[in-house]
Amino acid sequence: MTKQNIAVQDFLSWREEWRVGIPMVDRQHRVLADCLNRLVKHYSLEASADQESGSDGRRQLGQLLDELYATAREHFRREEALMLGLSYPGYGSHLREHAMLLAELKSTFLNRFTQSWRDVDAALLSALRSWFISHVLRSDREFADYLLVRPRR
Ligand SMILES: [Fe+2]
Ligand SMILES: [Fe+2]
Repeated sequence: MTKQNIAVQDFLSWREEWRVGIPMVDRQHRVLADCLNRLVKHYSLEASADQESGSDGRRQLGQLLDELYATAREHFRREEALMLGLSYPGYGSHLREHAMLLAELKSTFLNRFTQSWRDVDAALLSALRSWFISHVLRSDREFADYLLVRPRR
């Protein structure tokens, strides 16, 4: 992969319409998007510099992958705590979705990035983008709608 065939700047440019309306959640989504951007940017630069192995770049990539996983896990944990505190009826299915997303992050994306330096292609990056956006736009928004319209006691 070269710098030319990946639009690094645009990997996950934040869009206002991704906001769900819960400040803590929106803030964390931006942090997560930023992590994904840094990862893809780093990967692209390293791949185009052809630093196949044993470099500082490789170590930094590992750190970025760890950071992405930890950030996602922490974000999911905070969202789940919020849902539980509000007795959100969709808590169980949202929890399962988070578990699936974490498993997918590890088994599909992190492994592909780690194992094969040259094996990250546009299809994988597009799947990574959907991994983030589709959950935010569907399930997180469902929760936010519930929270924001529920009657105050
Ligand atoms: Fe979320
Ligand atoms: Fe979520």
